[in-house]
Amino acid sequence: MALDVFPLAKPFLHLMSTERAHQITIAALKAGAASILGATKDPASLHTEVFGLSFSNPIGMAAGFDKNADVIVPTHRLGFGFAEAGTVTPLAQPGNEKPRLFRLKEDAAVINRLGFNNKGLESFSAKLRRLTPGGNPFGANVGANKTTEDKTADYVTGIETLYGLSDYFTVNISSPNTPGLRALQSKKALSDLVARVLSTRDKKMAEGHRRVPILVKIAPDMTRQDLTDIADIAVETDIDGLIVSNTTITRPASLTSANKEEIGGLSGQPLMALSTKALSNMYQATGGKVPLIGVGGVSSGADAYAKIRAGASLVQLYSALIYKGPALIGHIKADLATLLEKDGFTTVADAVGADHT
Ligand SMILES: Cc1cc2nc3c(=O)[nH]c(=O)nc-3n(C[C@H](O)[C@H](O)[C@H](O)COP(=O)(O)O)c2cc1C
Repeated sequence: MALDVFPLAKPFLHLMSTERAHQITIAALKAGAASILGATKDPASLHTEVFGLSFSNPIGMAAGFDKNADVIVPTHRLGFGFAEAGTVTPLAQPGNEKPRLFRLKEDAAVINRLGFNNKGLESFSAKLRRLTPGGNPFGANVGANKTTEDKTADYVTGIETLYGLSDYFTVNISSPNTPGLRALQSKKALSDLVARVLSTRDKKMAEGHRRVPILVKIAPDMTRQDLTDIADIAVETDIDGLIVSNTTITRPASLTSANKEEIGGLSGQPLMALSTKALSNMYQATGGKVPLIGVGGVSSGADAYAKIRAGASLVQLYSALIYKGPALIGHIKADLATLLEKDGFTTVADAVGADHT
């Protein structure tokens, strides 16, 4: 029988600092808490194939929840169609000073300036090696250490070290909390980064490894020119997809919570409109030729459906779980299946980019 203990646990979790509550959630998942939700079978309409991978549903756990690849299998058990672990940097690093993670309760939002706190590639790869192959897809999200000068070299190291251990890679160049990282989104820097990352994959394939999809995760805070430049690079190179988007450094006027002025990236409901607009613009700029993952502010089946109609082949979320708990995943999937059927779509793939036709 499915049991949702989140309504009971939430008041206690939300009495703690956001970071402590997160640690407890990871520990509970490691201890097997996901099993009590009970397994459900996803409706056939939610099955989808993207960049050569097969997904039982298009809803994924976004990066940042499982920074150290501790709970990939339990995350799938919660009902996610895929999970993205990381961001992992070559060397372990502590991240920024605490407090660095804030709830904006009234706005159903979060601000974080964690700064890639993680245990590094060695620990991450050891955990991936222990996974049994054949489960739901998962991605490894790679980043750069704060003190590294040649940031691009860190992405190459990440992909080289983890190659063959994950179903896809995400090159995260959009965290606002590592100085200089977002500069990698400029045309020249990104072209160089993509060339180096793709030649790393070519080298691995020449050694006999399979082709692992590589995605690039971008910020929602971009000029139209930046967006067009990134779209051109994605279309012209062998990059397999884009993730739109990371957190925003802007602060929508609608925010009311006391924490709204904290420095860092804003996620959750107030990011929905901004990130969906960026997604829609990216779908147009790439002519629908590059698979997109839509992320930012998803907290309902209707939100997930809006991302898909705007151009997302897959959807991810994180912040809404803090407020609504893991039962949300089942609700999103059920509502999404209903919305697809209502509009006459047999599959998720049929609805991708529907707003543009
Ligand atoms: C606490 C926290 C930590 C995050 N850490 C990462 C990270 O390490 N790497 C990354 O690519 N995105 C990270 N993100 C961004 C999320 O993956 C996602 O892009 C963003 O939160 C928007 O989705 P949401 O509104 O559903 O949370 C983080 C987000 C939060 C809230």
